[in-house]
Parts: sequence; C-alpha cells; structure tokens
Amino acid sequence: MAMNNDIILEFRNVTKRFPGVVALSDASFQIRRGEIHGICGENGAGKSTLMKILSGVYPHGTYEGHVIYNGEELKLRASSIHEAAERGIAIVYQELTLIPTMTVGENVFLGREPVEFGVINRDKLYADTRAILSKYQMDVSPLEIVKNLGVGKMQMVEIAKALSENAKVLILDEPTSALSKAEVEKLMGILRGLKEHGVTCIYISHKLEEFFQITDSITVLRDGKMITTQPTSELNLEKLVSTMVGREMKERFPKGKRSPGRVIFEVENLHALDPNDSEREVLKGVSFDLREGEILGIAGLMGSGRTELVMTIFGEYGKITSGKIRLNGREIKIKSSHEAMLHGISLVPEDRKQHGLVLIQSILRNISLANLDQFAHWFRIDDSAELKASLSFAKSLAIKAPDLHAPADSLSGGNQQKVVISKWLMSKPKVLIMDDPTRGVDVGAKFEIYKLMNDLSESGISIIMISSELEEVVGMSDRIMVMCEDKSNGTFDVSEATQERIMALATGISAG
Ligand SMILES: Nc1ncnc2c1ncn2[C@@H]1O[C@H](COP(=O)(O)OP(=O)(O)OP(=O)(O)O)[C@@H](O)[C@H]1O
Ligand SMILES: [Mg+2]
Repeated sequence: MAMNNDIILEFRNVTKRFPGVVALSDASFQIRRGEIHGICGENGAGKSTLMKILSGVYPHGTYEGHVIYNGEELKLRASSIHEAAERGIAIVYQELTLIPTMTVGENVFLGREPVEFGVINRDKLYADTRAILSKYQMDVSPLEIVKNLGVGKMQMVEIAKALSENAKVLILDEPTSALSKAEVEKLMGILRGLKEHGVTCIYISHKLEEFFQITDSITVLRDGKMITTQPTSELNLEKLVSTMVGREMKERFPKGKRSPGRVIFEVENLHALDPNDSEREVLKGVSFDLREGEILGIAGLMGSGRTELVMTIFGEYGKITSGKIRLNGREIKIKSSHEAMLHGISLVPEDRKQHGLVLIQSILRNISLANLDQFAHWFRIDDSAELKASLSFAKSLAIKAPDLHAPADSLSGGNQQKVVISKWLMSKPKVLIMDDPTRGVDVGAKFEIYKLMNDLSESGISIIMISSELEEVVGMSDRIMVMCEDKSNGTFDVSEATQERIMALATGISAG
C-alpha cells in the first residue's frame, strides 16, 4: 500500500449497512498527521458510525471498503475491545460513560488497572492518572469522586481515560454539547495542547462556530456520503451550512407572528430544597410569569439552577418550601409529572436517556407512550390512529429512520432528541417546557423545531425554553429571564436584549 507519511488515516470507499439503512456510502477521505480534523453533517449523516468503525465497535469485515492507518489497513477484530486503544486510537463517545460513584483515577484506568502480585497497585494508579492529567493541563484531582464533578470536568476525565500513553489519534464525538462557554474554551485549550504533543484529533460537533475556532480542515458528510474535505481557512459559516444541508439557508431563526395574551402561568418567589439533602437549597427565590402564546427564554450558566427550576415546577425534583405557582390565576401544587400533565404542563427533559426515551421500545411507542389515551377506544388502542399521528410528527421533524417500528436506540443521537420532542408535542400541552431542546440537533432540524415552536405558540400554547446558546435565546424568545446562582436575576423584553446584558446578569456582575 502506498505510504504517505503526512497522512495518518485514510478512508477508502467505506460503506456500512444496517437493515434498511445505508449509514455510510462509499465514503473516501484523508486525515493529515497532527491536524485537528472536523467532521460535520446533519443528524444521521453517518459521523458516529464512521468513528465506531475506527474504534472497533464495528470491526473489520462488518463494513465494506478500507481504512488505512499509518500506511497499513486497519483490521480490528471483533474479539478485542481494547485493540484500537492499544494501537493508539482513542475515542470519547457522544454520551458520557463514566461511573459516577468511582474516583477519577479508578475511571481513567477502568478495566486496565495496574496490577502487582494480583492486587491493584493504587499508588501507581493515582500517580499515572496524575501524570496524564497534568501533562494535558487538566485541572482535576485524581481522588475526586466523579459524581461531584461538573460536566466540564467529567468531559476532561473522559478524555484522560481515552488517552493512554501512546494515543496518536483522539476522536471526540460531540464533546461540547453539554458544556458551558467557559468549559468549551477550556476544552479548546486542552485540544491545542494535545496538538502540540503531536496527537491527531477528529472533532465532531453541531456547534459549527467551534470548527472555525479549532479545526485545520473539515469534512462534510451528507446521507452517508462524503461531500467534501476542505481547509478551514477556505470555508465560512454560510458555505459550511449550505454544504451540509445541500441547499442555501438564509435565516437561522424563522420569524413568528406571535401576539402573547394575558398571563396564564406565574411563579412567585419560589424556594425549594434538594429532595435528597434537606440542608441544601436548590432554588433561592425564582419569580417570573408567562403569557398565553408566548415563548419565554430562560438563560443562565450551566449549574445556575435552570433545570432544577423546571423539574421542580414539573413535580419531579425540589421540595418547595415557600413561594407560589399559579395557573390561570389559581394556585396549584404539583407533586408528580402525572399531575403536571393533568394540568396541561409538559416537559421535554434535558437528559433524554434518563427521562425521555425507552431505548428498546420502538420509535412509534416512544412517541405515543405518554399519549396512548388519545388512541384508546373501548379499552383498545387504535393502532392506525396511533401510527398516523406519530408519522405526522416524525415527518415534520424529519426523523431519519427506516420505519417507526425500529427501536429508538438504532437512531442517531440527534434523531433520538427529535423523538422525545414529538412525544411531548403530541400531548397537546397548555404550557410546554423545553430544556435545551436543540442540543445535539443539526442546523436543518433546529430550524424545523423552531418553526414548530412558532406554530405552537401561535396556536396559543405557552412555551418556556431553556437554552445555553445565547443566539438561540435571543432569536426565539419574546422575553428572557436570566438565572444566576439558583435565583432569577431579571426578566426583560427581547427587544432590549444583548448578549452582554444577558451575560452580565448570568454571571451576577449586574442585578436585574
Ligand atoms: N445500530 C444501528 N442499527 C440500525 N441503524 C443504525 C444503527 N446505528 C446507526 N444507524 C443509522 O445509521 C445512520 C447514521 O447514524 P449515525 O449515528 O452515524 O449518525 P450521526 O451522523 O452520528 O448523527 P447525529 O448527529 O444525530 O449523532 C442513521 O440513519 C442511523 O439511524
Ligand atoms: Mg452521532
């Protein structure tokens, strides 16, 4: 095979088929040694599949074509899960894989602990962990229990775990989808450090701005096909988006024509305790109101209490100690998600794996699960009505699946998110709470979700949307409430919103 020392990895005509789906179709491209190479494409384009081929999840023989690594064909065996890592290919998956109750060091060396005379050498384990962490300037203690870390640090541990002594290629599959702006900056610093150490990096993300901060070149996939590889310096955001979606996209946020009405939902000075630790106050005074047919954006840093707030309103988290929640002027007390739904309040949760989806169930059932009463006639489920309604949501959100009977875990990450959204939209709520609804969703589908939000609000449904993307909050909301340290720190009209103002309130520099 031809040796070209500048090229560390080459895909030659790679095709990967699943029943009813061609996830990759004759994809060919090269990755240069030492570069940061971005891969982008819509949900279901085949990005994660490509990375799973590199890591041996789909071993040699389960796909067509060739993967050339350091001048030789990569032939990973099905039987050996550590083979890719041993050959220097490290991968950080789309979903975090750490064990929360174990320490950082135990996680980093899980399954490959240093053993001496039949026992784990804990001193060496922690020393080696400390060495990796400090080599790449990761500011985490090896002895810390993982569940006490924020997502940003968990992500670092995830990377440290993937990097063994001889890592040559590091693959990051949507590493920043749960990170705050500051944490993303930190990660970028770590990646630059890795580059200095000669590590080649493959970077997958839906936050397209990041490609322009960090990558040297970008490959675009669409429907499993390689569309182009180009130096980042020759691209810009508009070009990248139109290459990805195959058409020009003029606006990122569709214009709605809403006219919010009277106030229907009010939260007044809400205080609540952690249900598992009554010493800890998780909400320290939150107030806002919501009008009929309005979209209220909730901005704030990661950890500012936004998710805790909406989970508490939904009856699934904090123990309310004082304050009031009113719906249509009447005080309500919600003790479970079931009660919330009876009041017409729905929540699209942040963590789709834990709260949103039953992965082994079909896509169809996942959409209709919370809404089966709509299709029940004389104690029987009207299958065709269920299918018809679910199909219409799957179509409008462009869920990419061979059919709705496939299990939810066969969907790509972003398409799973669309299923969760469909499920809650079908329940026809009066108040719809969406916690980071477009996380991990590609630009085209984001636009579809925004359009749906516009339609819903125009039909009179009120929406509360948590978002970490400032552009999105400003682009979609009528008013914006900013949270800081478990309190609401100001609400204002979107016409008065600037990113600076939101950041000042979110960081507590100014008070609203
Ligand atoms: N185990 C599987 N069984 C069946 N189909 C699968 C499986 N894994 C992936 N697919 C399908 O292959 C296609 C590519 O999926 P992949 O996960 O690679 O997409 P992706 O580009 O990573 O998308 P996302 O941005 O949403 O993460 C999708 O249509 C997906 O439904
Ligand atoms: Mg993916």
